[in-house]
Amino acid sequence: MPPGIIIRKFEVRDRGAVRKIVHDTALMGESAAIFFQGEEVLSDAFSLYFTDYEPESCFVAENNAEVTGYLIGAKSKSRAEAVFARRIAAPLLLKALRQGIFLKPKNLIFILGCLKDLLINGMRTPDFNRRFPATLHVNIKNGFRGQDTGSRLIAAYLDYLRKEKIPGVHLATMSEGGANFFLSQGFELLYKGRRSYFRQVLKRDVPLFIFGRRL
Ligand SMILES: CC(C)(COP(=O)(O)OP(=O)(O)OC[C@H]1O[C@@H](n2cnc3c(N)ncnc32)[C@H](O)[C@@H]1OP(=O)(O)O)[C@@H](O)C(=O)NCCC(=O)NCCS
Repeated sequence: MPPGIIIRKFEVRDRGAVRKIVHDTALMGESAAIFFQGEEVLSDAFSLYFTDYEPESCFVAENNAEVTGYLIGAKSKSRAEAVFARRIAAPLLLKALRQGIFLKPKNLIFILGCLKDLLINGMRTPDFNRRFPATLHVNIKNGFRGQDTGSRLIAAYLDYLRKEKIPGVHLATMSEGGANFFLSQGFELLYKGRRSYFRQVLKRDVPLFIFGRRL
């Protein structure tokens, strides 16, 4: 690892940089702009709970004063989902309507793809919350990967969860590279499925992996 890279707790001043990386890595490490037009709405949907409701469970990697990666976490995935449903979903929907998100052809293609996947295949996955209550998302900026940043973020987060007496953590990823990364970090594969909502963009279905690790 280059000497300049440090791992530290997320601070409010990191919010903008984290949200930018969230957007720029949303499609298995590539930009969300490939499938979605609306950076603010997308970043809200993917990260607002973590940065605004549970910032103490988030970490960043900093390289020469630049945030180059993040791990945003939640000690209880079910609590995060409940807060999202109760506090975030309705204002986000209003914001999306105000910004004309549903009128943009790219977004319509993606949203219709999700609805089709939901109707035809269902998007249910097994519930792992009891044995693995916590969750996380981790992404490193393009150009800064493969330098131990991801593994150091994971180590910092697992250490934090252990101190908080959380018995396990699980996460979903559609990225094959991400899957290999989590295996290398001692996670076990709990579930593998397929998703078709990127078919219009990628011309193929993508795998959905769920990984877990007991602490
Ligand atoms: C996946 C990701 C978080 C890993 O972080 P990183 O800093 O690049 O990874 P590290 O340098 O810490 O690598 C740790 C180990 O994972 C492996 N690994 C990391 N990325 C990998 C990839 N894309 N394919 C295969 N193995 C990978 C490394 O080879 C290394 O293995 P080793 O310990 O046996 O040498 C980062 O590359 C990334 O953000 N990728 C794009 C988006 C993504 O896939 N996110 C996954 C979460 S949804």
